[in-house]
Amino acid sequence: MPPFDRRDKIARRAGVMHIHFMTRYVRCLARAATVAAAFAVVATRTAAQLPATVQSPDGKNIVTVALDSGVLRYSVQRNGANVVMPSALGFAFRGAPRLLGGLHLVDVARAEHDETWTQPWGEVRRVRDHHRELRVTVEEDAGARRRFVAVFRVFDDGLGFRYELPVQSGLTQFEIMEELTEFAMASDGRAWWIPSFQPNRYEYLFRASPLSTLDTVHTPLTMEMPSGLHVVIHEADLFDYAGLNIRGGKEQNRTLRVMLAPMRDGVKVRGTTPFVTPWRTIQLADRAVDLVPSVLGLNLNPPSKIADASFVKPMTYDGIWWGMHINTMTWQSGPLHGATTANAKRYIDFAAANHIGGFLVEGWNLGWDGNWVENGDKFSFTQPYPDFDLPAVAAYARSKGVQMIGHHETGMGIANYERQLDSAFALYRRLGITAVKTGYVGDKTKEGDAHHSQPMVRHYRKVIETAATYGIAINAHEPIHDTGERRTWPNMISREGARGQEYNAWGGDGGNPPEHETILFFTRLLAGPMDFTPGIFDISITRPTGTPRPLEASRPRTTLAKQLALYVVLYSPIQMAADLPENYEGHPAFQFIRDIATDWDTTRVLEGKIGDYVVVARKARSNDEWFIGAITDEAPRTFAEPLTFLEPGKEYVAEVYADGATAHFLTNPTAVVVSTMPVTASSTLTLRLAPGGGQAIRIRPAR
Ligand code: NOJ
Repeated sequence: MPPFDRRDKIARRAGVMHIHFMTRYVRCLARAATVAAAFAVVATRTAAQLPATVQSPDGKNIVTVALDSGVLRYSVQRNGANVVMPSALGFAFRGAPRLLGGLHLVDVARAEHDETWTQPWGEVRRVRDHHRELRVTVEEDAGARRRFVAVFRVFDDGLGFRYELPVQSGLTQFEIMEELTEFAMASDGRAWWIPSFQPNRYEYLFRASPLSTLDTVHTPLTMEMPSGLHVVIHEADLFDYAGLNIRGGKEQNRTLRVMLAPMRDGVKVRGTTPFVTPWRTIQLADRAVDLVPSVLGLNLNPPSKIADASFVKPMTYDGIWWGMHINTMTWQSGPLHGATTANAKRYIDFAAANHIGGFLVEGWNLGWDGNWVENGDKFSFTQPYPDFDLPAVAAYARSKGVQMIGHHETGMGIANYERQLDSAFALYRRLGITAVKTGYVGDKTKEGDAHHSQPMVRHYRKVIETAATYGIAINAHEPIHDTGERRTWPNMISREGARGQEYNAWGGDGGNPPEHETILFFTRLLAGPMDFTPGIFDISITRPTGTPRPLEASRPRTTLAKQLALYVVLYSPIQMAADLPENYEGHPAFQFIRDIATDWDTTRVLEGKIGDYVVVARKARSNDEWFIGAITDEAPRTFAEPLTFLEPGKEYVAEVYADGATAHFLTNPTAVVVSTMPVTASSTLTLRLAPGGGQAIRIRPAR
């Protein structure tokens, strides 16, 4: 890292308010107070008394905080019914007693906050943050008399709570072995989950089972209760802590507990008071369709620290990428090396000719030869292979008006990457490259810290903040899960963090099943945008050999129309046209990718059932166009969608990309019918989806 003053200079140039690392914790504590002071409708210090309750503005969600035999517990009700039964709050430390029991109340304070803010880019333009806050301070009766503050914010769409550990003589430096937060669920819902602490991080197929049978799973953890209530546990504002996992009810029935990702020595978090934890969030919705758009986590992150985020560009992009995954190209040097100057120019030309805003290049830098997963500490982030003229390619992209996206695969060689971080970003900045895809293949750092441990959380944040100072946006693959960073750092533009399209190339288990994306929408995507990389047209992956892959092999288990619908359904401000250009050339359905918007004013979920189907309508931010994406699992479905969201009295044209009459994700995946029809706000569209199919619709004002 260069000296602070130089970074600060760069930061000012990029319009970034840089935060000095040493003052960060203190500012975090001050942050809540400042924000509350600036917007509070009510801020009161009531007589300190427990139990205390706090309600959402609409009165439907109620959190009760009580001391029960010296243990601080919270519970949650919605619409008068129990959601979370009294659940403990506390910590287990190394070398010190648990901070859990023997507590008495010190203080209770309340505030209310109502503000509507604008996203620089997003799935919706305006976001309302209306919540009521309850702060409960407790202290031990004896011993070191340690104290903590439990802060609750209750919104109409759920709640967040976190711990503050103020400056105190009985607790200075500490090592957290576990956070003792519980979620004692009132009933046994159905949970959609992926397992934690596995080699492929978040990249597993979701399974559904009763929450009382869960082992250790990732968040967002989406559960449907017997009453139909949907409950999602996740976290927000994670910047200096270990990533959250949930230990399930296998032995403890319906009580879910926190399990943090460990460092190499088993410690979960090292800190010094004053300290704040991330928010633990519980999103609540009476119906699945009301889970999206999910803004609870965004509202629990601080406002943007980037004064001018105009360098962050929502766009579609193509790239030297799918070829490596289906073996027509290599990252390594050799006869099939993908990242050659000539190839790059071909992809740039294709982007420029087809309204595709960006172009990604992987395998351009030294370090891919040999076993790159094992040799992550050998990557250079500044030296290109001899057959790739980086300055010439960057200049060519600029001359064609195409944004080049750089690539940094670390192979989890974190120290190696951090050593080169500034020179790598400085190089890209010099070349006018304003976005970088990062990669973290591996399940531990070379030093043995877990992929989502505190050092990795710090690393991911350091990359975002450093990139911001160079005016660069980050699209992280193998990321830490999204906790709403994009509100504070809008250059955190997208990330992977689930099984994406690439598993359809080499997953080895046949690829993602047809239900996969209908689950992602209600689980992973609730955390934030996903770089899924849709748009495969050669569904049977014939290109490398000239013959279609067999049905049981890895290949997309979707129809072509469903590939198009994914651009609307799976939100990301950067969406890849992932297939090879030669598979798009001359194809009538490619027009949809040329036309698709990537930045939205409004999002409406019209239909949805987790694991079965999703229908979403989104209005573009820059014009009066609407897009509809509909996807189904292996069952064919028909939907009748009234277009009441259109402007009354206005005439539009619907451009429909539908599954052909005999389309089927296995036997006839590419049958797609393109048609147009006049529509108005009083029209109803009938959407017929084939097994594993979908439909994509652009609705534009009639010209
Ligand atoms: C895994 C990423 O998900 C993929 O997109 C990338 O091509 C490879 N790693 C290499 O970095």
